[in-house]
Amino acid sequence: MHLDNASILRAAEWLRSARHVVVFTGAGVSVESGIATFRDSGGFWQRFPPDQFANWNGLLKIAAGKPKLLAEFLLEVLAPVAAAAPNPAHRAIADLEKHTRVTVITQNVDRLHQDAGSTTVHEVHGSLFEIVGKDGEFVRLLSRPQMQDIVRSLQRAARGPLTLPRLLWAIRSLYGPGRKVFHRPSIVLFGDAMAEPAWSDSWEAARECDCFLIVGTSCVVMPAAMLPHEAQMSGASVIGIGPEEGRADVWLRGPAGEILPRLVRAAFGQQTQCPNSLTQPNDRACWSDNPGT
Ligand code: APR
Repeated sequence: MHLDNASILRAAEWLRSARHVVVFTGAGVSVESGIATFRDSGGFWQRFPPDQFANWNGLLKIAAGKPKLLAEFLLEVLAPVAAAAPNPAHRAIADLEKHTRVTVITQNVDRLHQDAGSTTVHEVHGSLFEIVGKDGEFVRLLSRPQMQDIVRSLQRAARGPLTLPRLLWAIRSLYGPGRKVFHRPSIVLFGDAMAEPAWSDSWEAARECDCFLIVGTSCVVMPAAMLPHEAQMSGASVIGIGPEEGRADVWLRGPAGEILPRLVRAAFGQQTQCPNSLTQPNDRACWSDNPGT
């Protein structure tokens, strides 16, 4: 992977001089944790068309008519997330907090930023782990081991003939105690309102930050996709990271799990000898423990 070193040095400069960094992430940041994206070839929506699977009416229709297909869909969603762990991209984003103020705005529902140690995370599309009541009120937070138990229960149920009651019993941990009220994960599907206060806080952070990183998102789903433009209009430098170039002041092409650790090291690194990848004729001296020197 060739990465233009001038770009990484430029991006590192912006990161180092920033007072407030926003990191805006999508499915691509979790690819190296084993979770598929939605729109890449072979992506999730190619296997499960969003018009049927990405809205509550569609899901209820499938539940009523094809419980086995719903079980297959749920396993495709839950199993990789339950088994996932933060990758170097999530950890580099969490490490940024040692150097500057960081707000993570994520479209993902996998809680990997929190597991990596990020402390300010706005989940604008909700979370698979946060269980809410019928009015959206918080009920409880599932742990990743509890999610793994749900996946095992679902796998057992899916082995035999699967009726809807058997399927609902298999995923009963997603429901509240007593199952008097329909509880569900707080995920935001198409047609739903964005998660609050996450969305309002994200909009404010995009306007207030001075460096905005786009990591692993196609930036096609509104209104979240408006955030980079809002940040840029408010004067922030916008850095993009991902294998396919998008709109940004500088784009670092490649997988987030490789680029982000290099970028954070280049900005704040404890590099004592010049790594070949960062030297160039007019380059500054190697990064020392005082990266500003
Ligand atoms: N590192 C960084 N980026 C990657 C990697 C990687 N290893 N692999 C893929 N990508 C990039 C792809 O190039 C693409 O730009 O991640 C992006 C994934 O785009 P989508 O699949 O569209 O996912 P996302 O942008 O998160 O979708 C936004 O759409 O369906 C809704 O609610 C869903 O939150 C989701 C929203």
